[in-house]
Amino acid sequence: MAKDSGEKKDQKSYLDYEDHLIEYLTSPSTIIQKPTEIEIEKHHQVIAAINYPRVVDPGWLTRLIEMNLDFDLSMHISPYSVGTTVAMLENELKKQKTDIYALETEGKIVPQALIQQHEDTTSLLQLIQEGSEKMFDISLYIDAKGFSDEDVEKTSKIIRNTMNSLMIIPKIPSYQMLPALKSVLPVADDQLKVLRNITSSAAAACFPFAITSFETHATGILIGFNAVNSIPIIIDPFELSNPNILVLGTSGGGKSYSIKLILMREFMEGVDINVIDPQGEYTDLVKTFNGQIIKIAPGSDSVINPFDLMDQTLDEKKLSLLAFFRVMLGELTEPERAILDDTIDRTYEEKGITKDPKSWSKEPPVLEDLYNEVMPLTRSTKEIIYRPAMAIVNTLKSYVFGPMRFMNQQTKMNLGNRMISFDIRDAPDVGKGTLMFLILEYVYTQMKKSKTRKMLVVDEAWTILSSGEQSEYILRLIKTCRKFNLSLVMITQDVEDVLSSRAGRAVLTNTATKMLIKQDTAILDEIVKQFNLNDAEKRFMKISTAGRALLIAETARIPIYIQASPEEHRIITTRPDEMLNIVNADIKKPAGKDTYREFNINLPLHRKIDLTDDQLKQLEVREFMELRIKTLSGESDLFLFKNDSEDTAEHFVLQHLILEEIRKYTNKGLIHHTRLPDVTFEAPNGKMIAIEVETDVGLKRSLENMEQKLNVMKKYDDYFFVVENSSIVQDYKEKFGTMIGRTDVPAKIASYFT
Ligand SMILES: Nc1ncnc2c1ncn2[C@@H]1O[C@H](COP(=O)(O)OP(=O)(O)OP(=O)(O)O)[C@@H](O)[C@H]1O
Ligand SMILES: [Mg+2]
Repeated sequence: MAKDSGEKKDQKSYLDYEDHLIEYLTSPSTIIQKPTEIEIEKHHQVIAAINYPRVVDPGWLTRLIEMNLDFDLSMHISPYSVGTTVAMLENELKKQKTDIYALETEGKIVPQALIQQHEDTTSLLQLIQEGSEKMFDISLYIDAKGFSDEDVEKTSKIIRNTMNSLMIIPKIPSYQMLPALKSVLPVADDQLKVLRNITSSAAAACFPFAITSFETHATGILIGFNAVNSIPIIIDPFELSNPNILVLGTSGGGKSYSIKLILMREFMEGVDINVIDPQGEYTDLVKTFNGQIIKIAPGSDSVINPFDLMDQTLDEKKLSLLAFFRVMLGELTEPERAILDDTIDRTYEEKGITKDPKSWSKEPPVLEDLYNEVMPLTRSTKEIIYRPAMAIVNTLKSYVFGPMRFMNQQTKMNLGNRMISFDIRDAPDVGKGTLMFLILEYVYTQMKKSKTRKMLVVDEAWTILSSGEQSEYILRLIKTCRKFNLSLVMITQDVEDVLSSRAGRAVLTNTATKMLIKQDTAILDEIVKQFNLNDAEKRFMKISTAGRALLIAETARIPIYIQASPEEHRIITTRPDEMLNIVNADIKKPAGKDTYREFNINLPLHRKIDLTDDQLKQLEVREFMELRIKTLSGESDLFLFKNDSEDTAEHFVLQHLILEEIRKYTNKGLIHHTRLPDVTFEAPNGKMIAIEVETDVGLKRSLENMEQKLNVMKKYDDYFFVVENSSIVQDYKEKFGTMIGRTDVPAKIASYFT
């Protein structure tokens, strides 16, 4: 900073000082240059590509990009003018011709490489003159980073090896690390200029984001992260060939969890959500978003009459009714089907509902009306009639007189929310399948009416899918929902049913997005065959744990892990012990004791003793680390922290503890991770105080570090060092001024405020 270096300080006020903060923060504290390395906070080694393979495939740089290492990669691509290119190539051709001619006249054999080169140049010239190719200059630099020399050397070596294996020749530009590093910065300034000219098609092949052909959609949501390289997978199911999603996996594998996550994220993007929820496990989620929960069970207010036309034509309705009875009765025999066909027609006719569309608005029949139509047939003398009639009547009984009789009435349903869950947890088990089917039909016909994006989730969909043999209805539903922007999301454990039933296979072929979550070994081979999984994918499925999935979007496949933010996790987890913790945490909160600290996940430091298990877990997910250190009171304590500085963990925690101490008196205190002192604050008299924390145990290193900071420290009104071993360093008191141990810090800070 260009400031007067005189004794009298110019940082008159706290604000004045803050004004210059940006300058301090944006400039590195030191730059140490070595022949093949440069140290600016981290250690860097820049590698330049000095040669490339003759032919490359599209996306050939992907392997380089996908490496899970600490590095930056920059490519500079700049076009040549056509004129220059043609002149250059013609020149080159002349040279080559002369060489070939010279060799030939001397009677020598012309090397194949030269002939090849000549042919390449000739065809390139032709392509450029045709305008189908252009020439570019390309340069490629990689900045390998690390916290130490060894660190960088290791990273750099792996990168160079990978480059070699891609037939890119790497070189470390010795004595040019600063311009090299500047060339990597995203400011498009190639100071190194290690250039190579290439054609447009080769330049296009260098585009490195062809990763397993997952195109990131601008309107997409975060589905998960690539399990190999943690690259976020952002897709928009509505942008694919169809918006349907299928989730397959064993119980507890995280099927519902991942869908709940997708639901929340899609809802935020304006997608309407409907869930058919057999376990009542979406209730918390729906409540959080002020959605509507429709309970369908004996005694509840909402009901759907299976005979309700739901704005379909009578023919359509008949098709769905037959599908409905298939769910109710199991697979229909031919005589059963014939009887139902006939009696359904008559039941509608009795109510005056015929093929004439005008009659469709009349009040529809209910299940009892059908029962009454079938009943007389049970008295038939013909076995082919009375047997199937008995079967139908026996099952219908429970819907007319038995536990499911609440369905024997006209539809009562009031949908009025962007997020609705149909909770059928309390419905009798015998009727769950039929209820799910009816809700599916009802919601589907309602959703058909609008073109806005919406999702319909069917959890535990096997009930519907397994009874779907011959079910034209399910087939049609799955095939048509794309037309009105409806994404059908099916979740099922029963992989076998999906793979073996016709409806299941129809779902497979009409579902662009599939998530294969942990599979039972027994079923794994079947999955491998069905989805053509390779060995790596098979292994991934085998060792998969909750939260990991093989994502299939159209034809692309990718192993991913699914991660929720702590806030999201709280809403969607179903694990009983966790839910208990969440409840406990809620109870604990209003305790209102002095010692109670408000939990704020965004703070970088937490005392472990203050945290609930749930909070601990949230911090773990965010990669907080644990450390036991001696605090300012001299006692040791456990902390969770996220060190975003380059300093050691101990240094980081200590810095925050000192700030915490200062905050007891004033909020005009700050922490710095730059060349500024570690902690600064303003005393009541307006004086600016600087504190430097030295946690290095080696005396020599400590003294070196302190020396480095001393000049900055002197610019403050007062300063002191907090050192590890105050008795030893006291010998240097004359040079460094006040040096105290950490337990003296509270008293020292207090002295400025009294
Ligand atoms: N990605 C994840 N991250 C963290 N926890 C997860 C994840 N996936 C699942 N879990 C945990 O596992 C529990 C069980 O998951 P989930 O309810 O989704 O299983 P499921 O596959 O739907 O099982 P079921 O077939 O029995 O319904 C979740 O409540 C959650 O606590
Ligand atoms: Mg589930």
